[in-house]
Amino acid sequence: MSTYHHLAERFGTPLYVYDLDHVVAARDALFSALPEGFELYYALKANPHPDVARALREGPGRACRAEISSTGELSAALTAGFRAGECLYTGPGKTDAELEEAIGRGVRVFSVESPSDLRHVGAVASRHGVTAQCVLRVNDATPGASTGIRMMGRPSQFGIDRETLAETMPRLTSVPGTRVVGAHFFTMSNAADEASLIGEYEHVIELAARLEREVGLPLSFLDIGGGFAAPYSAAGRRVVYDKLRPELERILDLHLPRWRAGAPRLACESGRYLVAGGGFMLSRVVNVKRSRGRRFVILDAGINALGGLSGLGRLLPAKVEVAEGERTEVGSLVGPLCTPGDSLGRDVALPELSEGDVVTVPNVGAYGVTASLLGFLGRPAPAEVVVRGGEVVSVSRIQLDRRYEPVG
Ligand SMILES: Cc1ncc(COP(=O)(O)O)c(C=O)c1O
Repeated sequence: MSTYHHLAERFGTPLYVYDLDHVVAARDALFSALPEGFELYYALKANPHPDVARALREGPGRACRAEISSTGELSAALTAGFRAGECLYTGPGKTDAELEEAIGRGVRVFSVESPSDLRHVGAVASRHGVTAQCVLRVNDATPGASTGIRMMGRPSQFGIDRETLAETMPRLTSVPGTRVVGAHFFTMSNAADEASLIGEYEHVIELAARLEREVGLPLSFLDIGGGFAAPYSAAGRRVVYDKLRPELERILDLHLPRWRAGAPRLACESGRYLVAGGGFMLSRVVNVKRSRGRRFVILDAGINALGGLSGLGRLLPAKVEVAEGERTEVGSLVGPLCTPGDSLGRDVALPELSEGDVVTVPNVGAYGVTASLLGFLGRPAPAEVVVRGGEVVSVSRIQLDRRYEPVG
């Protein structure tokens, strides 16, 4: 029986369990893998649960800041105890209404993805009588590494094309209501290995230094992005980055030697690395059937509870925990929804299972509940149980009460 089965008995299924001890250990491991002084932004899109986010900000270890890309995530960050001044607001489609709310609530640092995005931020900041500190997200055509989920290097809604910066820099640095303070790179998620991560960082650090030198990019803040990897919805351990810190120090000494004096301020971002390993999804087997020789295990959780929108590809690779030495048979793991798309995993090694048994899908603390098709087919959202030191800290459920409230 898995560690959290008693919680499934107590609170029902489908159920997410977030173990804050894992989350804090991941945060401490990542800070240790980075040079002294690096800021680490937690990407709330991975898991906006306030207790999870709070664990990354509080406690004896170093505190994360918050990377947010909606006013919903801003509310979640503030509820979790982050101050608005600790938030970096990102995203290619910030609306005026969102900017009004974010600036009104005190957010001052924005990653801007285009000249017009910068002008929007500036217009709203000016109306509020404040100056927004903006980092230019750069889309470079010559990436350093080519593994992981690439978000840049081709035509994209993300970032400003690097080759346009020489011409546009004078205009970008004189937009009323804004001050360009640096650069933001987020070129990939889930790097395949440490060497690709280091290769990518070497490339963006060298490029930032060159943009400062050659096109006059102000550089008091440099966010080198993310790419820290984590297993998703299958067994696997937290990745260890033991070369990253000395390699980053070497690269920074080479290209931005002032970094040791705190200029520029350096930052990176992570969602999945920090929270994936702390999350488990428990689901009950509703039915087991055979169809043309293949075994189907039908769970009470499908893509409405574990949607797979992790950026790793639409088809989930979900696996259930199997005890050591337990006999398994390959089959399909599917959900209860009335669509053939409700598949959590094909060709999954499944132990002997019957109706009523509980299975655990590990490594789903990132891109779990809120990356699922929560509203599809009208089932309640899974309950979310937060534990720390083996004790239950909170139990909650996102409300999806099918009420259609009139608007306007
Ligand atoms: C700007 C930005 N920051 C951080 C993240 C988090 O990525 P991950 O969960 O892979 O660390 C993303 C993911 O898409 C992102 O777009």
